[in-house]
Amino acid sequence: MKKLLISTGGGDCPGLNAVIRGIYKRAKKEGGWEVYGSIEALSGVMREPPEIIQLDNSKIAGIHVRGGTILKTTNKGNPLQYPVKDKNGNINYVDITQELADKLTAMNFDAVINIGGDGSQKISQALYEKGIPVIGVPKTIDNDLSATDMTFGFQTAVQIATDSFDKLVTTAESHHRVMIMEVMGRDAGWIALHTAIAGGAEICLIPEIPYDVKKLIDRISDRYQNGRGFVNIVIAEGAKAKDGTVISSPGEEGSEHVRLGGVAYELSRQLKAAGCEAEIRETVLGHVQRGGTPVAFDRLLATMFGVRAFELVMEGSFGKMVSFQHNDFKAVDLAEATKSYNHVDKDSFLVNGAKGLGISFGD
Ligand code: F6P
Repeated sequence: MKKLLISTGGGDCPGLNAVIRGIYKRAKKEGGWEVYGSIEALSGVMREPPEIIQLDNSKIAGIHVRGGTILKTTNKGNPLQYPVKDKNGNINYVDITQELADKLTAMNFDAVINIGGDGSQKISQALYEKGIPVIGVPKTIDNDLSATDMTFGFQTAVQIATDSFDKLVTTAESHHRVMIMEVMGRDAGWIALHTAIAGGAEICLIPEIPYDVKKLIDRISDRYQNGRGFVNIVIAEGAKAKDGTVISSPGEEGSEHVRLGGVAYELSRQLKAAGCEAEIRETVLGHVQRGGTPVAFDRLLATMFGVRAFELVMEGSFGKMVSFQHNDFKAVDLAEATKSYNHVDKDSFLVNGAKGLGISFGD
């Protein structure tokens, strides 16, 4: 029997379980493979004793409709920058990917499928360069990975955000208020942009387009004087004013990134300081966007990513990431996939079309 290891890394995302099931079912259909899962990303491989479980029908049945990941995940302990405390208690970040590769080799895995975002795929590439037969599967609700038209989890996050937005519209209308809804989107404003168009927002603020508060005041005044007397704003957590900074707080020890969140309150403060007379309320959606049942499209995307990833394993096409391009499931080199980032293009049709609807980006 050959041995395949699956890992889910970084922030969780609706559809992770559907990928795991897709891989498992395809491997089962092929026959001759045992499928294992590393607990909490590849940390399970590094632990003593290792935390690795063998997957079977009872663990897999029906999981495609469940959010989260049955393998658990973490955004701490990145093997490329592994936090090690020195004798003075200071943390130094060291590359332990060789140690990780040695462990995987010693465990006799014939293939590793690493499901994760940008950070996880950089780990996939580093392991591949050290001789590990790896395939990457792109995940993130932020949709910020290049080399794929879409990541799974994104559509679910947009649906959750749009449902929430719709609820905020009726309360904004009743009170003639300005409602600010903050969504996730660290460096890319995809969730905010799609939600603003789907929901019919007046203002959409994204990391790629720093905003001018005066322009926002103009749009709000116009809407109160000539429009319907209430305003709904969607803002991505990573958005900032032209002369401002991203609102963040330190991440937990060993975490890959600083914590974002709270820009809705900062925007509220900025609008009041700039003379906005309407009542303003803020909603920070946070992790509800990452939870619960994946929508049908994400289940399809995730399941077929899983199937395609296993087929790449069978072909022996390692060092690749599965990708969804032009309505088809392709494979791209991990090295290529991790080179750039999928930002919203401020000159794209989506942004200009949104402007054509009257949505202000504050630029
Ligand atoms: O990368 C996805 C994401 O949802 C970001 O938009 C957000 O900043 C981050 O994860 C939060 O991650 P956590 O709270 O799990 O550290």
